[in-house]
Amino acid sequence: MAQALAQRIAEAADLVTVALDELLPRAEGPEAQLTEAMRYAALGPGKRLRAYFTIETGKMFDVAERSALRSACALECIHAYSLIHDDLPSMDDDDMRRGRPSLHKAYDEATAILAGDALQTAAFEILAHPDTHPDGGIRAELVTRLAQASGAKGMAGGQMIDILGVRDDLGGVARMQRLKTGALIACAFELPLALARAKDSERHAMMAFAHDLGLAYQIVDDLLDAEGDAVTLGKAVGKDAQKGKANFVTLLGVGAARERLNLLMDQTKAHLEPFGVAAEFLRASVDFVLERRN
Ligand code: IPE
Ligand code: IPE
Ligand code: MG
Ligand code: MG
Ligand code: MG
Repeated sequence: MAQALAQRIAEAADLVTVALDELLPRAEGPEAQLTEAMRYAALGPGKRLRAYFTIETGKMFDVAERSALRSACALECIHAYSLIHDDLPSMDDDDMRRGRPSLHKAYDEATAILAGDALQTAAFEILAHPDTHPDGGIRAELVTRLAQASGAKGMAGGQMIDILGVRDDLGGVARMQRLKTGALIACAFELPLALARAKDSERHAMMAFAHDLGLAYQIVDDLLDAEGDAVTLGKAVGKDAQKGKANFVTLLGVGAARERLNLLMDQTKAHLEPFGVAAEFLRASVDFVLERRN
């Protein structure tokens, strides 16, 4: 199963990279530095897990392939933008990302800010295009959901809390993680559910799954920062402790954070029970998230 899943993730990643290559503006004209930088960030070697979640959920709910793929591309644009800005000297000040110089190192800070801005708007342009779905009402719902997941009550809000810091408060850390990472991961499921006009009961079960998965995803990221290997990870390690960041690992220690994570994994999978065998790949992706090394 693990191998079949890895293959499915790789296939989804390839589809998304090819589609993004088509969708993103070409590096031409006097603004070519901006479009080249957008491409550097969005077409780079990311795991594309959010995109995979959208495509897999699209399959589960019989969503048209093109609709799910374009939604996955929009999400990856927002994710790439969030990483560009996250690495800036005024934020986490990281020189490496995905095994290569982070964007402001490959170009410069001004280009990194602009590439983030333009990837963000590219995401909404992709969703709003009629190729994403013929029904304008559905497209408006996709745009709203991605905006909410990325904005002040989503990723950007979580990043603000991360920068300001949470003091020795696990509840506060959990909320911060839910916003900065959980919201976009949840959106990876919300978009295909909106495309499928899924029933409320299906939506609730999938959202409960997505919320636990998003929290687990960030705890694993924090564990990898504490214990991972910079070469495998493709980004610096030990930064969270060095920068005095509050997260489950810096507050609880590696052992207790891992215990929490293990409990969370069973709970996460249990939310998929109503979907039976149709959710087998999503169920397996919980283990993939737990065992990932990069
Ligand atoms: C890193 O995300 C930042 C977090 C929100 C945890 P990923 O680990 O999904 O990064 P890529 O896209 O694979 O580089
Ligand atoms: C990232 O959290 C959250 C984002 C929304 C980009 P981190 O700052 O821990 O992500 P990495 O470790 O730099 O990838
Ligand atoms: Mg950060
Ligand atoms: Mg960071
Ligand atoms: Mg991190």
